[in-house]
Amino acid sequence: MNNDLAPDKKLQALAASRMKLTAPAYSRATLIMGCGVQERSEGSYIYDQNGRRFLDLFDAYGNQSFGYGHPRILNALHRQLDSGHTNSCKIFFEEGPVKIGEALAALTNGALPCSFLTNGGAEAVDGVLKLARAATKRPKFITAQNAYHGKTFAALSACCRPEYDKMFEPMMPSFQAVPFGDIQAMECVIDDQTAGVLIEPIQAEGGIVVPPDDYLPRLRELCTERGALLICDETQTGFGRTGRFFCFEHYGILPDLISIGKSFGGGMVPIAAILCKDEYWTPFRIAPLSFGSSLGGNPLACAVGMETLAMASDPDFLAEVRAKGEVVDRRLKEFARAYPDLVANVRGKGLLYGVKLHNDAVGGLLIRQLFERGVISAFALFDPTVFRIEPPLTITMDELNSGLDALAEAFAETSRYVGALPPRVLGASTLEQRIDLPVDAASAFAYLREPANLYRHSPLVLSTQVGDAGLVCDGRIDDIGLEWTDSCSIDVAARTIVQRATGGYWAAFVRSWTIEPAGSRASRLTMKLDWSVGAATFEHLLSLRIRYSLEKATARALSELATAMRASSPIAAEA
Ligand SMILES: Cc1ncc(COP(=O)(O)O)c(C=O)c1O
Repeated sequence: MNNDLAPDKKLQALAASRMKLTAPAYSRATLIMGCGVQERSEGSYIYDQNGRRFLDLFDAYGNQSFGYGHPRILNALHRQLDSGHTNSCKIFFEEGPVKIGEALAALTNGALPCSFLTNGGAEAVDGVLKLARAATKRPKFITAQNAYHGKTFAALSACCRPEYDKMFEPMMPSFQAVPFGDIQAMECVIDDQTAGVLIEPIQAEGGIVVPPDDYLPRLRELCTERGALLICDETQTGFGRTGRFFCFEHYGILPDLISIGKSFGGGMVPIAAILCKDEYWTPFRIAPLSFGSSLGGNPLACAVGMETLAMASDPDFLAEVRAKGEVVDRRLKEFARAYPDLVANVRGKGLLYGVKLHNDAVGGLLIRQLFERGVISAFALFDPTVFRIEPPLTITMDELNSGLDALAEAFAETSRYVGALPPRVLGASTLEQRIDLPVDAASAFAYLREPANLYRHSPLVLSTQVGDAGLVCDGRIDDIGLEWTDSCSIDVAARTIVQRATGGYWAAFVRSWTIEPAGSRASRLTMKLDWSVGAATFEHLLSLRIRYSLEKATARALSELATAMRASSPIAAEA
């Protein structure tokens, strides 16, 4: 890629390349949301290619709990880089992993003293599952519906999601998911074949779902009674996210195995861990090569990990998280009361909150409205009707309040827009607009049949040229600066002209113009746009956000068309 490109061209080039080479659907979705190029970041803010600042209210899915470029983490990295010990030879003793091991053991006052460092959360989840099998010699795992444990085969199998099962089958056998928070459902399935119950204390990607207060205590009892291990996946909820170091501490329980990750690496280096009771550490004693990792627990990762552990276990830090969480709780509940037509409910703990909307398309528009106000958020992976307020734990009270002020404005604009929508269009990737033209239907049709006129007045079209493959259009959505080049075809029928564009940003983009008589000197034009972004499961979520932009562009194009016809028609000019 050419590094001298102007900022917006750089964004288009990066997005086009990423769409082609790695993440087509995801990149299409983030581009239409208005994500730019991340140039630098600091504290609670990231800066895009135009130097525009965005406050982070979703924390990279819970990764950046200490904000961007925290000085303590950067210093730890610099110290380690300067120390001369940057690469592990693996067979010598090193201070880093041992000190981390001691710090991890201290988190549970030695109740889970054994630990192993991995590169990421899913790898740690695989590890806790292996340990539970080895300890119990039982085959089965119980998980919760809508749980998210990562993307390796075992972690994905644990998620028990039909859409992934279908794609990657056969998944690993012996996983069964029951509704989260339902202790009776657990009672029915945990038996003498169950090795472990793998659970997030609060489901994050499932939609920030908080279980009933007695759920985890009763689950703990049930596991103990039936000889199954209780495994808490604290990858997202750990490191103070909910106002305690571990989320399970709110419920007064102790699991047998714990996985942690994400913020452990300060958002900069990959590090995650398995924590385990001493009695279940057997594989490390009798089959020492059954666990291992080339780079897990490397010197740089350990340097950062020591620092994040120290920060997140500081009682003052945790008290501040709880205080900020109370503000989030109060203000989100105010929004829920003010917009019952949009918000179903609000739930969470500490700085892990979800706003459950009635419709995911509304969430798409709301998130876009936040972007326009310089604030970023995202929805929960497995429940796009939930958008999250999950800022860095280091966010200041003023920053938090300014983000929530932006959310108040985003709610007001979204509510105004949604309230004015015609019935049944929510979530549809289609838009219809009408305009009265000041000329009779035959003249209007004749005018628009001319490709030059048609394209001059087509919404979103900047220019057209005849290329090797036919007509080529350059298009643009102004409010996000999204540009593309597509190929177009035109079909003309009795009263309708249909333009079909393919390629460029769109999987499909159809503009239909239908002209009907409305008296001898007037006609009515109905313009219908139908689109598909090719963003797979994100299509519905994006629909309203796209409609919001297309509506303005279409209204402008149609009004310019009416003006042009008035000017070009002697009859209209007389009238
Ligand atoms: C609860 C939970 N477990 C596991 C993972 C997977 O972690 P990683 O992406 O580091 O593999 C995640 C990631 O979002 C998570 O939220």
